[in-house]
Amino acid sequence: MRVVTVTFNPAIDQTVTLDHLVPGAVHRALSARQDAGGKGVNVASCLADWGTAVSVHGLLGTDNAAAFEALFANKGITDRFIRRAGATRVNLKLVDGDGTTDVNMDGTPADPYQIEAVIAAVVEEAGPDALMVLAGSLPPGFPHDIYARIVGRVRGTGALVLLDSSGASLRAALESDALPDIVKPNRHELSEWLGAPVETMAEVHRVAADLHERGVSLVAVSLGEEGAFFLSGEGALTARLAAADVASTVGAGDAMVAGIAAALAEGGTLERIARLSTAFAVGKLGRAGPHLPKKETVQTLADSVRIDTVLAGEEK
Ligand SMILES: Nc1ncnc2c1ncn2[C@@H]1O[C@H](COP(=O)(O)OP(=O)(O)OP(=O)(O)O)[C@@H](O)[C@H]1O
Ligand SMILES: [Mg+2]
Repeated sequence: MRVVTVTFNPAIDQTVTLDHLVPGAVHRALSARQDAGGKGVNVASCLADWGTAVSVHGLLGTDNAAAFEALFANKGITDRFIRRAGATRVNLKLVDGDGTTDVNMDGTPADPYQIEAVIAAVVEEAGPDALMVLAGSLPPGFPHDIYARIVGRVRGTGALVLLDSSGASLRAALESDALPDIVKPNRHELSEWLGAPVETMAEVHRVAADLHERGVSLVAVSLGEEGAFFLSGEGALTARLAAADVASTVGAGDAMVAGIAAALAEGGTLERIARLSTAFAVGKLGRAGPHLPKKETVQTLADSVRIDTVLAGEEK
């Protein structure tokens, strides 16, 4: 199975390490690095490390496309991004001994022709052997129903669609008649969609079961260090693995999405999906960027994941 990821709001993460951040003061950077990112790009980066064939779609500004092009060339990712004038947004991460201070930009509004061009390129790649991963926020002014429209357009081709988004675009996709096959909300995204806090495992189970009954075949709810909950026609289970080494929690969810895609590409069972996606996420925690450790390490992590079968009403 081929994986196709779509990123409408890519970003370059500019990480600047400082001794100590003091608002209003002048600082000298200890180090600085730039990483091409955005959710679909991160997912593709992890999948390429694992050896799954992947192509990337979306809109990239020509002024600073080099960081993306280098990543795609290094990892053998097929670049289907449409270029537009201007720069892709740059998100600033200020790291000091106390943690990371994020300054995120909104992204460039796109014109409708460019959006249609991306959709056309994505639809052209859809087919029975394709898994389409729609991931991340939308730049300002983008139509909220864009993911729902893409699902509607690729539905008839036999492609599977995995959606990882939040807020209005997640709502539009979950309220549409053309539902994604797979969703991976985190607890906050699920609560926001429901309009009520989702706190206990029983609540997670109930909301996931509702989505499944409406037609989402696989629901994965990521719960940060508590692990994740998975539900499909095969049943429900939780997966958890303690992280020995946490370099960065940024993009753990993207690595989990990549692991779900990799397991689906091998035709894995629900347990394999849970094991591999948790291993991808925990493996990525040890790395600063969206990269996996070597394949044997990920396999060993997958074997170590604790899986618990969950029956409705018996959640702990
Ligand atoms: N501190 C941690 N210890 C162990 N596992 C973790 C930890 N943080 C994250 N994970 C693993 O990573 C998975 C995804 O993390 P999380 O729920 O934070 O995703 P997310 O909120 O979508 O993240 P993002 O969108 O920032 O990539 C979790 O389900 C879990 O398996
Ligand atoms: Mg996420």
